[in-house]
Amino acid sequence: MQKTQFINELSIGDDVDSLFSIKYKYNIILYKNGFMFLMGLSDRTGDIEAIYWGGNEKNSTQNVHEMLKEGDIVHVTGKVGEYKNKLKIDIKESNIDLAKQYNIEDFIVKSKENVDALLSHILKIRDSLHDGYLKKLLNDFLTDQKFIKDFKTAPAALAYHHAYTGGLLEHSLNVAKICETLSEIYPNKMNRDLMIVGAILHDIGKIIEYKTTTNIKITENGILLGHITSGVDIVLKKIEKIPNFPELTKNKLIHILLSHHGKKENGSPIEPSFPEAVAVYYADEADAKIKRYIELIEKANGSKEFYIYDSKIGNIFTK
Ligand SMILES: [Fe+2]
Ligand SMILES: [Fe+2]
Repeated sequence: MQKTQFINELSIGDDVDSLFSIKYKYNIILYKNGFMFLMGLSDRTGDIEAIYWGGNEKNSTQNVHEMLKEGDIVHVTGKVGEYKNKLKIDIKESNIDLAKQYNIEDFIVKSKENVDALLSHILKIRDSLHDGYLKKLLNDFLTDQKFIKDFKTAPAALAYHHAYTGGLLEHSLNVAKICETLSEIYPNKMNRDLMIVGAILHDIGKIIEYKTTTNIKITENGILLGHITSGVDIVLKKIEKIPNFPELTKNKLIHILLSHHGKKENGSPIEPSFPEAVAVYYADEADAKIKRYIELIEKANGSKEFYIYDSKIGNIFTK
């Protein structure tokens, strides 16, 4: 079945007849007319909750519930309703089945950039480093095939910015490029190598914070540790394998990772305390926010409104 109906186009009362990825499902519960369960569905345009309304027969609902696994693509027919101000899809008994054929691009968005070219750019940055320890550290990451595979496919977020495969690589390179420019603005005043390696590695914990199948989902690790803690862990493990890695360089690099959200209320356990850390914080903030504006304006394209409202940013002028 060709997918022609997408989540961002759905409105209350619409008939649904389309394919979706299962992001999560809850346990079966009893309601007044029988058994039901709730699940999260997604496609490349967003997420929506759906309720499967089974009948009085617990077994038949249980069979459907057991058949559906996270990451499966399903064919759903139903109707769009509303619950607590959010759209949901009501699925009547038997109106969901596993899809035999689908196009993965309908569910997962890929970076529009050539990720191999982005990676080559990072290799060039590695070659430009002068600090032997930082160069060795970055090289150890870039010659780790498992790491490269993850770095090329990880998203930078679930929704906020660069929320697609390859997004982390794009974002990390952008932050590094902004920091390179800052080091040119302040020649000999900043440790370029420390700042650039910090920029490339600042969000590295996102490799294990998110999992991509037919949808992008936060992992248990992401919920329990978050990408800052995981990132520090990943970097420290690599540093431990490098003999005589200077203690101060290690601590300053780890400080950049820990402080890159800028403020404690934004999840940084410690706030930036030297220029290179301030640089990575603002470069990260600039890239994430500018990209967010661009993505929202692109999404709004076609709308006649001259502005849109985003709950995190506020008003965004779209003309
Ligand atoms: Fe981050
Ligand atoms: Fe970031």
